Amino acid sequence: MPPSPSVPAVPLGSVVSVGGSHAAVHLTAPAAAEDAAAQRITVGRFLSLRTANSSVVAVVTEVDGGGAAGAIKARVDLLGEIKRGEGGRPTFQRGITGYPAVGDRVEALGHDGLRAVYDTYGGDTITIGQLQQDDSIGAYIKVDEMLRKHFALFGTTGVGKSSAVAVLLRAILASRPNQRIFLVDPHNEYARSFREKALVLNPKNLKLPFWLFNFEETVDVFFRGRPGVEEEVEILTQTIPLAKAMFASTRGEGHSLRKADPGGTAYSVDTPVPYRLADLVNLIDDRMGKLENRSSTTKYSRLIARIESVRKDLRYAFMFDNANVGGDTMVDVLSQLFRLTPDGKPMTVMQLAGFPAEVVDSVVSVLGRMAFDFGLWSDGAIELLFVCEEAHRYAPGDRSLGFGPTRKAISRIAKEGRKYGVFLGLVTQRPAELDATIISQCSTLFAMRMANDRDQAVIRAAVSDAAASLLAFVPSLGTREAFAFGEGVSLPTRLRFSQLAPEFIPKSESLRSGEHIDATGGIDAVFVERVVERWRHATMGNKRKAGESLLDMERPGGEPATALTLEAERALLRDAALNMRREPPADAAKPGAGPAHRSLRK
Ligand SMILES: Nc1ncnc2c1ncn2[C@@H]1O[C@H](COP(=O)(O)OP(=O)(O)OP(=O)(O)O)[C@@H](O)[C@H]1O
Ligand SMILES: [Mg+2]
Repeated sequence: MPPSPSVPAVPLGSVVSVGGSHAAVHLTAPAAAEDAAAQRITVGRFLSLRTANSSVVAVVTEVDGGGAAGAIKARVDLLGEIKRGEGGRPTFQRGITGYPAVGDRVEALGHDGLRAVYDTYGGDTITIGQLQQDDSIGAYIKVDEMLRKHFALFGTTGVGKSSAVAVLLRAILASRPNQRIFLVDPHNEYARSFREKALVLNPKNLKLPFWLFNFEETVDVFFRGRPGVEEEVEILTQTIPLAKAMFASTRGEGHSLRKADPGGTAYSVDTPVPYRLADLVNLIDDRMGKLENRSSTTKYSRLIARIESVRKDLRYAFMFDNANVGGDTMVDVLSQLFRLTPDGKPMTVMQLAGFPAEVVDSVVSVLGRMAFDFGLWSDGAIELLFVCEEAHRYAPGDRSLGFGPTRKAISRIAKEGRKYGVFLGLVTQRPAELDATIISQCSTLFAMRMANDRDQAVIRAAVSDAAASLLAFVPSLGTREAFAFGEGVSLPTRLRFSQLAPEFIPKSESLRSGEHIDATGGIDAVFVERVVERWRHATMGNKRKAGESLLDMERPGGEPATALTLEAERALLRDAALNMRREPPADAAKPGAGPAHRSLRK
């Protein structure tokens, strides 16, 4: 029960010493009477220190009852002060203008006091739950402050992070129906939380043409998440801009490539304009045909084989199928992804679970980069919140992990996004593994339960001294509970996120509890079939159908392409030799002279 505002505050003791941002108070022993609960002073409790013209709000950080009989000494951090504003209404402000003096009276901060501090309800606030100290008072967040200066939500697994994200984003959409939100959903669990408000994208309905990938992302795709081979990457550096120019010239808008500009084009490897893979392959093939030295053909044929095998891999259909249909579809792709014409769905839930594992990082990189670039080139025409779950995976602190361009994309939003209306929300169970410079850009933090010391240290580094004492509670928070710190709240707030109705709780679709289990506890056979299908799909190689081998795949010229087996490589070398105009020296085609690998993952 909340304390009733009409009950006068009980004096608890008095101030005995005052420091810069803290004080010590002596408390009288709690009376055994019915108001014992009000008298119970423990760490985290808010007190009011009564000065001549204000109440200084303080939080208990240490209690020591080991002194003289009955004497309890508590150390408190001073947080701010409540003064009577216009019309006698108590108003709270952070910081201390008039310090308490030794002997000033100490009271518990009652319902009215908590209201003055935390009840910031107004036009620009959202309610995401209740105060832990007094559940009759809402937990309000200043939504503009939270969005514009980015936010992060940390907590150990199972503590309610995804549900909290659903509560937060639903509250944002309720107060700002047109706020564009792009949610990266690695476990396909959020579709149910947003229903009709969100467009749900997955590998089956996403169209993300390969030509929107920048150079590093393209290399990552062609090399299937492994570092690119230097000499093949070099060939791509030269041929991709040419393929782009060829596409433009066939549409009458580009620079005539072969006649006017044989050596280069106005397009860079990164310019997001369409090109055809067939043109790219032909360009590589042409170059191979002109070679005088037979030993150099391997890298060309290998590269062609790589491109073909990725293009024919069904799992990559989202980026290669019909990628050139409709010509330059960038406007449509951007409009769809970022809900530029929302049609009642201002949000995108990007489900990642069905993508080939090796391409997920590149996809997140493309999406994050495009979110930022759209903001940049539109001068922030539309405000977009980019929310990334499992953020430690995409922006790890350890540079040897993850995919550099993905981290770069997220880091750019963190550092410069606010100038262009692109805001970041990061969610992770392992903050210690997340890039610290990115965390430092998040001005509102929600810390849920975290037991790990390294994770707690990250939070401690990110919050002010006054708030740091509250972090002692972080390991003992319950499910749904969080501390909110920073710009979005008036004071560090211990809150409990609203209870989500069961149908909105994020849950992976295929694991919906009970749905596939019959009365005897047996699992539905159709369900198991779906599990097998997903399993196979995720690990399936390049084969179109069962029984069709890689060597059956056609190259544009009609020759067989290859998987990079030794056998196939030899076949390619033979083909290449036939194409050569001059016979090479007999020792030129030594097998096994493998190209050096270079890591592009800086
Ligand atoms: N706000 C909430 N409303 C209703 N139920 C909740 C809420 N928060 C947590 N729960 C309950 O706790 C469970 C776990 O929550 P949730 O999946 O959000 O945790 P998580 O931290 O995202 O876990 P994980 O690390 O596995 O992703 C939910 O399935 C739900 O039953
Ligand atoms: Mg979760």
